[in-house]
Amino acid sequence: MAFVTRQFVRSVSSSSTASASAKKIIIKHVTVIGGGLMGAGIAQVAAATGHTVMLVDQTEDILAKSRKGIEESLRKVAKKKFAENPKAGDEFVEKTLNSISTSTDAASVVHSTDLVVEAIVENLKVKNELFKRLDKFASEHTIFASNTSSLHITDIANATTRQDRFAGLHFFNPVPMMKLVEVIKTPMTSQKTVESLIDFSKALGKHPVSCKDTPGFIVNRLLVPYLMEAIRLHERGDASKEDIDTAMKLGAGYPMGPFELLDYVGLDTTKFITDGWHEMDAKNPLFQPSPSLNKLVAENKLGKKTGEGYYKYK
Ligand SMILES: NC(=O)c1ccc[n+]([C@@H]2O[C@H](COP(=O)([O-])OP(=O)(O)OC[C@H]3O[C@@H](n4cnc5c(N)ncnc54)[C@H](O)[C@@H]3O)[C@@H](O)[C@H]2O)c1
Repeated sequence: MAFVTRQFVRSVSSSSTASASAKKIIIKHVTVIGGGLMGAGIAQVAAATGHTVMLVDQTEDILAKSRKGIEESLRKVAKKKFAENPKAGDEFVEKTLNSISTSTDAASVVHSTDLVVEAIVENLKVKNELFKRLDKFASEHTIFASNTSSLHITDIANATTRQDRFAGLHFFNPVPMMKLVEVIKTPMTSQKTVESLIDFSKALGKHPVSCKDTPGFIVNRLLVPYLMEAIRLHERGDASKEDIDTAMKLGAGYPMGPFELLDYVGLDTTKFITDGWHEMDAKNPLFQPSPSLNKLVAENKLGKKTGEGYYKYK
């Protein structure tokens, strides 16, 4: 509580934030930092829905790869969306690609952007360094958002002087397909910032939900403990992996069983998130590590990304 109060006082006393947050921002120009799996998807969807996008990453090579990936993904979208009119499909791809510029220098391109969405490596120190620097160069009205899956948004926002214009904007993989966006509100995030991000998410054709800055937000908070409990059920020898998957598909109506889903999420990602929560709250039974999962990750058996699947693992 004392922490929240301290942050509140810091925010209110910091510059002209009250006036900056008085009006809802209509987001037209977006800067996406990180052109990997998530950042490329966010840039693609934003550009395809009429926004101008600046995509930033560390090297020109990464950006070229990212752009190539976006083009391939757009061609697939166009093939479906414009099945009857391939020429219109080509125009859609070209127009969308033309709306995306790239840069390797984030600080030099954020001066006139409405929103910065960060999708870089999942490391608090690196994210803090980035936002601290951008805070000096971005316009007063610019909203900062992080796509982090496992870090506290408040801890990232604290690197800046614009905590009222800082929120989580959590997309799901693959971004062009997945409809959900979680908008995360810290104790410092203004209601106008939340509303601006909800409007932006809708403009992307997504379905936004909002949540406080709690570990895992909504989806991962429910999903990761469920996946871990399936692993523990099997670890104790209570049921086979195949029977657990079948049970959840036929008994709970889930489209995939937990082990099939673990292959998609990645065993390393599941372990990483659980370990982070365990560090924060070691007594919570939902956040306990699993010896069998630790062993598989140590052997680099990670699911789809390493080309196998849980059913094959001993
Ligand atoms: N992968 C998922 O399923 C998923 C889902 C939701 C959220 N997230 C979150 O999204 C973020 C990115 O994840 P990802 O899977 O896209 O990672 P990724 O490794 O595919 O991409 C990260 C990109 O960021 C770039 N980068 C790193 N540091 C940078 C810096 N200082 N400046 C500019 N670019 C930098 C890297 O070169 C890389 O291209 C993470 O915070 C992750 O937790 C991931």
